Amino acid sequence: MFDAKTRAIVVVGAQWGDEGKGKLVDVIAERADWVVRYQGGANAGHTVHIGDHSTVLHQVPSGILHPGVRCAIGNGVVLDPETLFEEVDQLVKDGVDVSGRLYVSDRAHLVMPYHKLVDKESSASKAIGTTGRGIGPCYEDKIARRGVRVLDLKHPARLRALVEKGTEHANQLLVAFSSSKRASVEHTLEVYSALAPRLLGLSEDVGLAVHRALKTGAAVLFEGAQGSLLDVDHGTYPFVTSSNTTAGGAATGVGISPRALDECIGVVKAYTTRVGSGPLPTEFDEAMGERVRTLGNEYGATTGRPRRCGWFDAVVVRYAVRVNGLSALAVTKLDVLDTLEKIGLCTGYEIEGEVVTEFPGDLAELENIKPRYEWFEGWMKSTADARKIEALPAQAREYLDRIEALVESPIRYVSVGTRREQIIGL
Ligand code: GDP
Ligand code: IMO
Ligand code: MG
Repeated sequence: MFDAKTRAIVVVGAQWGDEGKGKLVDVIAERADWVVRYQGGANAGHTVHIGDHSTVLHQVPSGILHPGVRCAIGNGVVLDPETLFEEVDQLVKDGVDVSGRLYVSDRAHLVMPYHKLVDKESSASKAIGTTGRGIGPCYEDKIARRGVRVLDLKHPARLRALVEKGTEHANQLLVAFSSSKRASVEHTLEVYSALAPRLLGLSEDVGLAVHRALKTGAAVLFEGAQGSLLDVDHGTYPFVTSSNTTAGGAATGVGISPRALDECIGVVKAYTTRVGSGPLPTEFDEAMGERVRTLGNEYGATTGRPRRCGWFDAVVVRYAVRVNGLSALAVTKLDVLDTLEKIGLCTGYEIEGEVVTEFPGDLAELENIKPRYEWFEGWMKSTADARKIEALPAQAREYLDRIEALVESPIRYVSVGTRREQIIGL
């Protein structure tokens, strides 16, 4: 946590997303001055429960529920202002004062209606099971140097030229997909002319603002979206999202030096989930999958899709510890395992008779592996009221100790319920 030396902390998902990053960021944000998102966009769904009220944040950083915290959306995010404002309006309705403390990077790329259209009409997106939020197509335009940035909204002629270019490209894709739908320049410009003044009111040089804040000793939390195994470089490619979800993305996605980052905390569930297609080595059979899905309420916060569930995979998390340089782990949803008679922990993969503990890059290899498990006695007791590690049943502590040893990272937090106070700090 923040102390005199630790001023910049990155929080990343260390599995396939939905690990409980929103909850952890909300808890740590109590001591933060800034919370900054650095990649992804409205594909994220970060849930924060306070009392009986639950808020799902897609683009607004999960520090917003703490009144004094400034929240920023970095240049690495692909920003969808339409849904951003829906989210902000809902927060205001819920009594959250957002004014003067939400900023968006002037360099962030904008998700256009045609990006969402292409995402929804593409068979490749369907095969991956994307969220349909236009994330991949927007990052494609960014990398192809035909994207539209927040700062372009200040220049109507430039904006029109960029939208024309983007629309032409989107329509070529729609023709290639044999879709009957077409994007329209005028529709896009209409949508954006309505949104531009409000968005420009939030526009800021976020890299500079965060740099200055760090220089004056502010505590800054960098909130990752998705999970390490969905990273476009380090994840289960091509079943990934289109950004660098891992800790390195925090530097490029905000515009600060990697040397400015002091710590990186990885959030993991006490088991594993994944939404969408792609490998999940420890996936349960149908009956067990249904049981844990119900216990953990495992339905996507963005799309409502049922999440696929499996045992904790120490190969995956050890890999995430390495690629992010995790200094600590936060284990969430331990309580979901409270009623299970026995609990599996994957320690390695058997590939053609050999056991490997390094996560393979080739999906074809992953398809042929057999997970190796260690089995733990279930504790069969509620952990929901535990506020100290000593209050956890001995079997639960044994399970957590074994995770620490296997993944080679200390556990700093254990979460035992959805609410803010249901957390053990170690
Ligand atoms: P994120 O995308 O990583 O922020 O995670 P999501 O919000 O998509 O999914 C995590 C879900 O688990 C949310 O509904 C949280 O409220 C819930 N959650 C977080 N921590 C715990 C916990 O310790 N126990 C239980 N039962 N639920 C939790
Ligand atoms: P948070 O931040 C879980 C998954 C999608 C799909 C793949 C690509 O809440 O953890 P995309 O729309 O990004 O092109 O879809 O990535 N995915 C997520 N899965 N949690 C998320 O975000 C996700 N964001 C994207 O299901 O498989
Ligand atoms: Mg989520």
